[in-house]
Amino acid sequence: MDNSAFEMHENGAQKALSMEKMSTISRMEKKRQWSLLSIFLLCLLACFITTAIGVLIVSLVYVNNSQPHLNVHFEPEAWLLQTTVPKVQKAVDPKFQFLNHLPKSKVFEFPGGAIQWARYRNNIKDYLSDEEEAFGTSLNSQRSQMTLGTLRIKSKGLRAPHWHFNANEHGYLVQGTAWIGVVDDGGEVATTYNVTAGQVIFFPKNTLHWIKNVGDEDCFFLLFFSTHDELQTLDVDDVFFSTPEDIASRSLKPEGGINFIRKFQQQTEDQGVNLPPNLAELVTNASYVQSPDNLVWRYFFDLKGSKEYQFPGGVIQQAQYWKNGNELSNNEKIFNEFLHQHQNALALSTLRIYNNGLRQPHFHFNANEMGYVLSGCGKVGIVNTHSTIEFNIHIGDVVFFPIGTQHYIKNTCDEDLLFILAFSTGDQLQTLDMDDYLQATADHILAQLFFRKQSEFKKIPKFMEDQAINLP
Ligand SMILES: *[C@@H]1O[C@H](CO)[C@@H](O)[C@H](O)[C@H]1NC(C)=O
Ligand SMILES: *[C@@H]1O[C@H](CO)[C@@H](O)[C@H](O)[C@H]1NC(C)=O
Repeated sequence: MDNSAFEMHENGAQKALSMEKMSTISRMEKKRQWSLLSIFLLCLLACFITTAIGVLIVSLVYVNNSQPHLNVHFEPEAWLLQTTVPKVQKAVDPKFQFLNHLPKSKVFEFPGGAIQWARYRNNIKDYLSDEEEAFGTSLNSQRSQMTLGTLRIKSKGLRAPHWHFNANEHGYLVQGTAWIGVVDDGGEVATTYNVTAGQVIFFPKNTLHWIKNVGDEDCFFLLFFSTHDELQTLDVDDVFFSTPEDIASRSLKPEGGINFIRKFQQQTEDQGVNLPPNLAELVTNASYVQSPDNLVWRYFFDLKGSKEYQFPGGVIQQAQYWKNGNELSNNEKIFNEFLHQHQNALALSTLRIYNNGLRQPHFHFNANEMGYVLSGCGKVGIVNTHSTIEFNIHIGDVVFFPIGTQHYIKNTCDEDLLFILAFSTGDQLQTLDMDDYLQATADHILAQLFFRKQSEFKKIPKFMEDQAINLP
């Protein structure tokens, strides 16, 4: 265990032990002069002291071993109080409850692509670092309904048909073109569609789906799953090879019966994202059918083409449920309705902050928030009871803002800071900005609260334009 405090205690204890031994030895030199009773009493004393030291060592080992876990497995509210609790030196920086450097995480490589995760793990050993563990623990202890994965698929690569037992999946295609198929209840229709960059996907829990890269460049997806437990997934090839041959044969009734089934050989490598070297021989007549709009727009949403909410310092676009969907296009209405039929759906959005822009302090009433930095760089602040935790963010970083937590985001680069955000609500997102709640509070209440004259509060201006993202 990498804990110097622990080693120091152990050395101290060993010293105490050897000193005890030495004094025992020196006393033993005189033992011949002593009576049998003295020897017995001495032994009893030595026995007592040794036991006491043993107990001391055991408790020191226990206390020191459990410390790193105390630091990481904080209670949901514990971080709010942390400014009053002295921090142990070896503690993980509290910012890692809110920040994950995804590019540093393990890359799961497959023949046709790669996957990376920012998530909770059941087994602590599955985390690469204490920082990753702090983030995963934070997601889980807040019951966040959040797991994030990135999925890269090479040209012609295929994310195997699969489904998730315990989560809805919401994704954003950053780059490339993918032909996606979705099979839901009954399997009578597979909804298929070419998804392009800037569009959003939604696969409800347990709907089977596949993703094939049909473009020349890599596809890059950001995927959000509505679970804070470990994601449970089943790939069609894995479940096929797990099915007894006779059962598969009787279910599919192929020409040649069980002998046809036996010709299928499981690959040694995991085909989660696959790309056979002899693909051209295998596939000679691929067609990429597109389903009718009324099916397609249940699972897909054109976020890039949706309404832009303009602010002085940036732009927000949203793929969420709207209570009043009158302004939505017909395709958007289909998505709106479908999203609302599902429990634990997420809302997705893009947040663009211009050079020098500030997404002012705000919080959400009804959702945890997870974000991925697509481009640019900035500074994030989490405003606590007694202080602010501030940290820098760069491309590939993942941030987490628990429900109700006040947070702000500043662009610190020349280029735009661009986020993909997910919110754990299937309802319309509810938000309160700092300027709005201060404006809404009566002047005389503020005067009394802050020990300032009531007239002073006239100096805080009210703007016509919403200052959610402002510029100096
Ligand atoms: C979908 O993508 C495939 C592969 O690039 C292409 O052949 C097909 O024409 C596309 N379909 C539509 C409707 O864009
Ligand atoms: C190729 O695919 C099309 C569309 O699915 C189908 O109509 C046609 O029969 C196929 N041809 C061959 C040789 O499989």
